Amino acid sequence: MKNTDTSVAEFSINQQFCDDILAGLTASPKYLEAKYFYDTRGDELFQDIMNCAEYYPTKCELEIFTRQTEELAQAIIADGSAFDLIELGAGDAMKSTHLLRHLLNQRAEFTYVPIDISGHVINYLQDALPAALPGLQLTGLTGEYFEMLEQAAQLSQRRKVVMFLGSNIGNMPVTDARQFCVELRSHLTAGDSVLMGVDLKKNPKIILAAYNDAQGFTREFNLNLLTRINSELRANFNIEAFEHYPTYDPQTGSCKSYLISLTDQQVQLCGQTISFAKDEYIYMEISQKYTVQQADSMANDSGFKPVCHFFDSKNWFLDAIWKAV
Ligand code: AVJ
Repeated sequence: MKNTDTSVAEFSINQQFCDDILAGLTASPKYLEAKYFYDTRGDELFQDIMNCAEYYPTKCELEIFTRQTEELAQAIIADGSAFDLIELGAGDAMKSTHLLRHLLNQRAEFTYVPIDISGHVINYLQDALPAALPGLQLTGLTGEYFEMLEQAAQLSQRRKVVMFLGSNIGNMPVTDARQFCVELRSHLTAGDSVLMGVDLKKNPKIILAAYNDAQGFTREFNLNLLTRINSELRANFNIEAFEHYPTYDPQTGSCKSYLISLTDQQVQLCGQTISFAKDEYIYMEISQKYTVQQADSMANDSGFKPVCHFFDSKNWFLDAIWKAV
């Protein structure tokens, strides 16, 4: 039998996405989850952000990975025993590629295990990396970080080195970040290590500019989530009626972005009406900055010992090696 009723099935709504967006927009104050920034257009805009002059974190960390590859590799190779090099949120693995090449040259015995929520990313890495890096052993895992860490532990008994780069830890408020580190530690064994990328506190103007670039990529990146909600949840946000508002507080080190409603307005989504008052905000994202001491104490408080610090030449970014104790 042929199904001729296309009107119902045409539009498939991701229920989880709908639930999460509704939860955020019916809360007080309103919020949206940063993980939803990354649809196809969001991925593109994030690439634009990383390439723009003001967004320094990626450049700083890439500098560490290119200029201190040898030292990083040495710290990871440690006693020379075989290991699994697990990367949480691998993305395009651009930074890691430098390290992987060096580890292969050193004849280190390891398997690279990229973990990403995007199957698209993992498929790409599985195709591209072994071609670019002959001899690389790679096992990609698609899914939630900790579920996939469990799975990685089933696959091998080797010691683990877990990379969490790009200041992704900054996308959580401080208490959540600590909890994340505690949970990460619970999936590891004494002697395992973590390579943690942390964006450091610095001149507030430099930080704010990184989240308020002149070309407006960050602004578009934030507004794109409203566009995504419009197309995936058949909502009717008027994008022009919201304004991107980035902030940085040097005292707390919290860089936060908001969308401000420019008028009293109503938006329909998932069969509900959401009202916005003029000047009401939607809290979009946090990018937390730390001092070296704060990063160290986060390690110490979650069952790690910080053993190595790698900085870029401006001392704007830290890649720290933590040993599980
Ligand atoms: C991918 C979470 C590290 O917080 O700096 C960049 C995301 N948002 N510009 C960051 C982001 C706006 C980025 N992280």
